Order: sequence, then structure tokens, then C-alpha cells
Amino acid sequence: MSTRVAVVTGANKGIGLAMVRALCKQFDGDVYLTARNEERGKKAVEDLEKEGLHPKFLQLDITSQESIEVIKKTLVEHYGALDVLINNAGIHYSQANDPTPIGIQAHNTITTNFTGTRNICQELFPILRPQSRVVHISSEVCELSFKGMSKDLQMKLTSPALTEHELAKIMENFVHTVEQDIYKAAGYPSPVTSGFYFSQAYGVSKIGVSLLAELQAKCIMKKGILINSCCPGWTRTDLGGNRAPQSPDEATETPMYLALLPPKSDGPHGKMFRNKTIYNWHS
Ligand SMILES: NC(=O)c1ccc[n+]([C@@H]2O[C@H](COP(=O)([O-])OP(=O)(O)OC[C@H]3O[C@@H](n4cnc5c(N)ncnc54)[C@H](OP(=O)(O)O)[C@@H]3O)[C@@H](O)[C@H]2O)c1
Repeated sequence: MSTRVAVVTGANKGIGLAMVRALCKQFDGDVYLTARNEERGKKAVEDLEKEGLHPKFLQLDITSQESIEVIKKTLVEHYGALDVLINNAGIHYSQANDPTPIGIQAHNTITTNFTGTRNICQELFPILRPQSRVVHISSEVCELSFKGMSKDLQMKLTSPALTEHELAKIMENFVHTVEQDIYKAAGYPSPVTSGFYFSQAYGVSKIGVSLLAELQAKCIMKKGILINSCCPGWTRTDLGGNRAPQSPDEATETPMYLALLPPKSDGPHGKMFRNKTIYNWHS
């Protein structure tokens, strides 16, 4: 039987690195730690080697189509397929007083968190083996951001007729409206500031990521492939800050549950999870 293979994006640190550690211990196959920066990625692999673990490394910037194509070529050459894909790479402008203009924040956040995730799926889904597992790392902030949207936009996003193409257009339109500072009038949410600060772009991008899993699941209803999204919970990382209650290793519990759903499981598929439980964030 051919070797099974798992890929984690944005895995040189934080929750991504912890998920590579967990997969090295629990997944029966090769595990690729990928990172946009080769030096940082190789250093992370060396650190895991010191723990007695043996991930492989590939450079991957999810905003670069060329980089995504190189990954696909490597997987096809060495394995002929892909068994587990964890879309973890993400960014957040987490300071309310960040001097970066909000139009640039919106562009960069949607380009990475939503479009990068979508692009890697479009490239790698054709090589998913039967019984593959795909997990998008989202955030529960999508519920608060969704509640901050106009009813019209909420209806569009949750319409059973919504397509992936239309979702991408809504994400693109969000960036344009932020650039023109008309996003509130267009029905998009403001930053979430209850307890924490989440930029409007982060919340909207994570709505996109969670809905992407729902829409992809509707299109891929074969071969036992299961696609889901989850919130890993507030976690002590560069993105989450040092006040968070859990470590990156603890944050892997729900993503690992979804990535390692036993063979022949007929679900969950197209759902969002939190604490290993389905999270109905837009109902
Ligand atoms: N921490 C939390 O409390 C929390 C809560 C809910 C959801 N999440 C989600 O969990 C995921 C991981 O977050 P984290 O807390 O571990 O953050 P983190 O420590 O900041 O790590 C983010 C990772 O994503 C990588 N990345 C960013 N842009 C990339 C790109 N274009 N291509 C490839 N990799 C890229 C970063 O690489 P560099 O090192 O090169 O920047 C880094 O490895 C994110 O999707 C985040 O939204 C986190």
C-alpha cells in the first residue's frame, strides 16, 4: 500500500507547529511541515527532530500560486495523492491602533486567510485520496462578525443557492468597500471589540473560511472525503497573545479529531466545530 501523507500550512510556529507535532505522533504516514519562510520552517523541523519526531519540510506561501503548484507537483511525484490537508496559515492585525491602513489590512487578510485557503484547495482537491480529511482552521469570531452584518448580507451568505464563486465575490467586495470606507453602509461588520479586538477583516475572512468548508462539502460528496472547519480556541501564540488560557498543543484537540476521523466515517462533513462539537455559528 502506498505511503499516506499529511500537509499542514503555516506550521513553523503556533498551532500549526503543534498540529505537525500531534500528527507525527498520531498519523500513520509522512507529515509535511510547510512554511512560507524556508529558514523558519527548517528550524521548526530541527526542533521537532530534537523531540524524536521526523516531519518533512516543504516551502509553501499560500498567497503564491507558483508555491502551491510546487507542493502539488511534489506530492504527486512522491505519493500520487494527498490524505490529510490542514489549512492553518492565517494572519490577523490584532492591535486596534495598528497604523496599517484598514484597506491594506483587509486586502492582506482576505488574500491570505480566505483566498489562499481557497486556492490551495482548488489545486490539491483533485489529488485527494478516498477517505481524505480536510480541516480549515477558522475562528469563533465568525459568529460575532456574522451578527454584525446586515440582514441582506446574512441572507446572501446563508442562502442554500450560494456558490463558492459568489462567496469569493462577497469577500472581494468587502475589500473594495473597506478601501473606499463604505463597508458599514454595504452591510459588512465593524471590528469586534467585546473583550478582545478582532479587526473587521479577520472576522469576515473567517466567515469565508467556515462557509468555504460548507460549500466544498456540498460539491465533494464522494469517496468518503470529509471537509470541515473548526475553531481551535483562544491560544497562546503570536496571533492569540500570551493571556490566552491554552497552549498550542492543547489547541490541537479539535483539529486532530477532524483530521483523524476514522476510515469509513460518513460524517461530519461541511460542519464547523468547537471543542469537538458541532458549532452552529450562523443559525
Ligand atoms: N491563537 C488563537 O487564539 C487562535 C484562535 C482561533 C483561530 N486561530 C487560527 O489558528 C491559525 C493559526 O494561528 P496561530 O495562533 O498559530 O498564529 P501564529 O502563531 O501567528 O501562526 C500563523 C502561521 O501562519 C503562517 N502564515 C501566515 N501567512 C502565511 C502565508 N501566506 N503562507 C503560509 N503561511 C503563512 C505564519 O508564518 P510566518 O511565521 O512566516 O508569519 C505562521 O506560521 C490561524 O488560522 C488563526 O486564525 C488562532
